[in-house]
Amino acid sequence: MSDDPGMERSRELLRRHQEHTTREPHTFTALRKKWDVFPGVFSPEFTPVTAMFTTWLPYPPDGAFLEVGSGTGVTAVWAALQGCRRVVALDINPAAVENTRANACRHDVSDRVTVLHSDLFDALPPDVVFDVIFWNSNYVEPPADFSLDTMLHHAFFDPGYAAHRRFLAEAPAHLAPDGRLLLGFSDVGNHELLRQLCDTYGLTLSTLRSEVRELHMTVEFQLLELTPARHRP
Ligand SMILES: C[S@@+](CC[C@H](N)C(=O)[O-])C[C@H]1O[C@@H](n2cnc3c(N)ncnc32)[C@H](O)[C@@H]1O
Repeated sequence: MSDDPGMERSRELLRRHQEHTTREPHTFTALRKKWDVFPGVFSPEFTPVTAMFTTWLPYPPDGAFLEVGSGTGVTAVWAALQGCRRVVALDINPAAVENTRANACRHDVSDRVTVLHSDLFDALPPDVVFDVIFWNSNYVEPPADFSLDTMLHHAFFDPGYAAHRRFLAEAPAHLAPDGRLLLGFSDVGNHELLRQLCDTYGLTLSTLRSEVRELHMTVEFQLLELTPARHRP
């Protein structure tokens, strides 16, 4: 048993997902709709976080929305259903890419949702910009010797916050002039390190909304806004 309850809860969630990967693709219900979930993909069946952030996010009417780490694609598809004109969803996990495509098809928004296999922004053209960029991130910082053995590990753990560092450094270049950069986080994440990284990249951190849930432990889920210096009045 680890001394860190956040780490222990994430290991437990990972175990539940791994059991689930032996099963066939199946469906679950979230936000009063049915969704496909493929083996090896982070599943909103096991946590309230996806539905929570998806209902809290701002969706620019007729605007462009980027979801980093789309998983099953619930948020990206929801953005299209809420009226975003152009949605791009990307994930480092090839199974998540296929899963997001399947749910875009299931909800008839494939014409507005482009899904890319990408490590953060790598597969995007450098000049493409969005009104909202969002990532429900892998905010658990594991011990230094932790290894990301499977694609599913990337859904939970970010050793040394290497992916967060790149997200904060690279996202502002893909924001429209009044674009908003949002991060789905929690009190299980390393806030001190996140703040240091925000300082390094000239971002101001604020909490848009948060909610405490009693799961196996008490967790506060937080939707954070990261405002680049050029956007501040
Ligand atoms: C916490 S899960 C969220 C999944 C989905 N958005 C949801 O809310 O159900 C984090 C997602 O980020 C993806 N991810 C992790 N590192 C990534 C990276 N470097 N580039 C793209 N996606 C990444 C994971 O594969 C995973 O699907």
